[in-house]
Amino acid sequence: AFELQLASSGRVIPVQAHQSALAALLAAGLDIPMSCEQGVCGTCLTGVRAGTPDHRDQYLTDEERAANDRFLPCCSRALSPRLVLEL
Ligand code: FES
Repeated sequence: AFELQLASSGRVIPVQAHQSALAALLAAGLDIPMSCEQGVCGTCLTGVRAGTPDHRDQYLTDEERAANDRFLPCCSRALSPRLVLEL
């Protein structure tokens, strides 16, 4: 499990082991565009301000992955205890 923090409000949203980061954001009432939910389409792309994503998508390039400034919350998780998102 890890936490997401919204950069705009400071709100912290926990992500349980059994749920995706996207599911946690939607359950918290955020309106995140999505489509494939498999890390393929890129629709759910979300900016990351701090923390290290655990990229599990097939959409970003290796360079984009290494930059750690965006991730795909439908499938990717976190290597750090918290990700601060551009939301
Ligand atoms: Fe398609 Fe996340 S919804 S990559």
